[in-house]
Amino acid sequence: MAEKIIIAIDGYSSSGKSTMARELARRIGYVYVDSGAMYRAVTLFALRNGMVKEGKIDVDSLVSALPSINITFQPTGEDGIQHTLLNGEDVEKEIRSMEVSGMVSPVAVIPEVRERLVALQQQFGKEKGIVMDGRDIGTTVFPDAEMKVFVCASAEERAKRRYLELKEKGEEVDFEEVLRNVEERDRIDTTREVSPLRKASDALELDNGSMTRAQQMEWLMEKFHEIEMKK
Ligand code: DC
Repeated sequence: MAEKIIIAIDGYSSSGKSTMARELARRIGYVYVDSGAMYRAVTLFALRNGMVKEGKIDVDSLVSALPSINITFQPTGEDGIQHTLLNGEDVEKEIRSMEVSGMVSPVAVIPEVRERLVALQQQFGKEKGIVMDGRDIGTTVFPDAEMKVFVCASAEERAKRRYLELKEKGEEVDFEEVLRNVEERDRIDTTREVSPLRKASDALELDNGSMTRAQQMEWLMEKFHEIEMKK
């Protein structure tokens, strides 16, 4: 059997990278880790524990509470899909709400939060055979990953996807609000001081704006086999 590798998939919010990464992991029998879900879980923790007041995060309280925040993944969904657990509680649905989406970028700029989550992510990758998606996986978490992909698509295209996804879940949403949220997250993600979102020099670029899911998977599988064969 071929040696297992680490696959890092980075890109803008709502670029479809999670769906793609999850499906790739399923097909090749790898573990999938959604690193964005981890930042979302920390954000939910802060919201639930009164650490966000009038849109401002009480950074000191959140940093002090970090050791008591445990994030794990389990295939607990009826769908067999991996769900995110915050201190043992399944929070998969809550972490996708607009409230969490609106606060997650400022939480993700806190250096101590990043430090803790990056350490956890590196733990998950110890055995290799992992597909992890996020913003800094190929640059900071696994700079030596054997396969790195950087996904991009226009903000409008991504907002459209996110809007349909939220509507499907029954959330009342306004397209302009979703677009503003996507653009604001792009701005924060690309300009933050610690680990800003950028393409690693050795990452393969995938512009999926006009590709179907099947085409994206075909592209990914081809690249995976090419890299795996060289190992
Ligand atoms: O991929 P997502 O939209 O679920 O990510 C949520 C937020 O977490 C996003 O605003 C950026 C942040 N994030 C990050 O800073 N680093 C990662 N590796 C993953 C996500």
